[in-house]
Amino acid sequence: MSEEEGIAAELRDLYENAPCGYHSVGPDGMVVRMNRTELSWLGYACAELVGRRRYVDAVSVRCRRAYQRAFEALRDGRDSSEIETELVRKDGSVFDALLRIGTVRDRGGIFLNTRATVVDITARKRAETEARRYAARLRAISQRIVEIQESERRNLSAELHDRIGQDLSTINLNLHIIRDLLPANLLGKVGSRLDDSIGLVEGTVEAVRDVAGALRPLVLDDYGLAVTLRSHAEQFSARTGIRVVVEAKDPVLRLRQEAEMALFRIGQEALTNVLKHSQADQVYVTLEVGREEVCLTIADNGCGFDAPDRLGHATEGLGLLIMQERLRALDGSLRIESRRGGGTRVIATVGRKR
Ligand SMILES: Nc1ncnc2c1ncn2[C@@H]1O[C@H](COP(=O)(O)OP(=O)(O)O)[C@@H](O)[C@H]1O
Ligand SMILES: [Mg+2]
Repeated sequence: MSEEEGIAAELRDLYENAPCGYHSVGPDGMVVRMNRTELSWLGYACAELVGRRRYVDAVSVRCRRAYQRAFEALRDGRDSSEIETELVRKDGSVFDALLRIGTVRDRGGIFLNTRATVVDITARKRAETEARRYAARLRAISQRIVEIQESERRNLSAELHDRIGQDLSTINLNLHIIRDLLPANLLGKVGSRLDDSIGLVEGTVEAVRDVAGALRPLVLDDYGLAVTLRSHAEQFSARTGIRVVVEAKDPVLRLRQEAEMALFRIGQEALTNVLKHSQADQVYVTLEVGREEVCLTIADNGCGFDAPDRLGHATEGLGLLIMQERLRALDGSLRIESRRGGGTRVIATVGRKR
């Protein structure tokens, strides 16, 4: 065998047995060539296909139109095309394939045939489907978490308000009555203890009211977002010593109830995050009501974090993920601007339309 013959044999072997399929299709759509790899994937002998069948016959009915369209575009002048399609084996089974198709033309530019590589992408397709299914499940679970959280908070708040709150008020009343009924000599001995207890009970009543309010902000229904955020921020400041400035014009126009609740919860969680993670001493909460949308920003001057990394992988906490989920349910969006050492801005936007 001459050297040339040797090279030709090697090239033929490469064509026939390459780890991907190769084929060529003529102007009438007939298969004019196909390598052994693709023939074996499709389950045909060379004589059954080459020169006898159109390639489109090996494409599933579902994908036939798209293939035909791509083929005609190539024949009519397009240089190359890349399509994902389904190929049908001789035994009727189907697999996913990626076709990269180029064209061969003569000197006058007349189309002679296509030249295509075929890659089996079944595994990738399966992984993509699986990933989509997981994403949908994750979304459903997050949504459910939001619902459960809201209903648990409602129950807890009612329990606190109706049972503990009422009982504390009764204790307070009793303590006052006892105080009034005590003879002077006893009052001198235990009066200060009694006053202490009354003070404690009153403080606890207030604390319970605050906690119940944070769990279920009834103010929100009655007075809207700006008032509720301001009141929450005041309590937060008093409790933590972190200065919070709320800039919000009370919107004359009220938002949908779900939107107000979502934005309030986001503000609440963002402030909790400031306390837990940021070491900030100053927070700006801004509520801007535009013509089309409402935008809530919580900006701190703390340590910051690698925000884009965090949003995708909510392995540590659920706070940011739930913020995102709440907004997704309202067709809104969440943006987090943060970098190490540069503070954090959480920006939640929802449309104003009902
Ligand atoms: N204001 C912030 N400043 C610094 N880091 C933050 C801030 N908010 C969130 N983070 C970071 O993002 C992570 C995820 O927050 P989140 O989803 O609310 O979960 P969790 O608060 O339960 O950790 C936090 O663990 C923290 O590392
Ligand atoms: Mg959190």
